[in-house]
Amino acid sequence: MIFKKLKPQVETIVSDTKKTVNERLLNICKLLETHINYYNWVGFYFRNGHKEELLLGPYVGEPTDHTIIPFGKGICGQVAVSNKNFVVPDVSAQDNYIACSITVKAEIVVPIFVNGKNIGQIDIDSNTPDPFTEADERFLEFVCAKVSELL
Ligand code: SME
Repeated sequence: MIFKKLKPQVETIVSDTKKTVNERLLNICKLLETHINYYNWVGFYFRNGHKEELLLGPYVGEPTDHTIIPFGKGICGQVAVSNKNFVVPDVSAQDNYIACSITVKAEIVVPIFVNGKNIGQIDIDSNTPDPFTEADERFLEFVCAKVSELL
């Protein structure tokens, strides 16, 4: 099971105090994008100060124009206000969706909590239709919990 193998590697990256927080976040993106074949864009968005918007953090994959996303807009902006995982099996069926690339078929966004506050999220795009299961949600919740220790 790939997730079981990746969990200790996530922990190793998080505890690598010789690296900056952003370097560690980027290494998590690289780890996930490299080892999970249906993860084609992996990135972090964080609340932009006290503004009601998200700011793009470290990511791997195609560059995106959406470096700032207002709360409520797109899948990411909805997670900023709902505080809940959002699994989208088919992005073309979503009205409130911000397209970054025409190759993307599905998306999953999982919030990151620090002291109970939703401070950001991990965002994964997939070029495979309907690829995400509960195992992805549990794994990404684990990743987000580890990341929250850094912030
Ligand atoms: N699709 C996202 C926007 C971010 S990109 O996927 C990188 C959304 O609808 O919020």
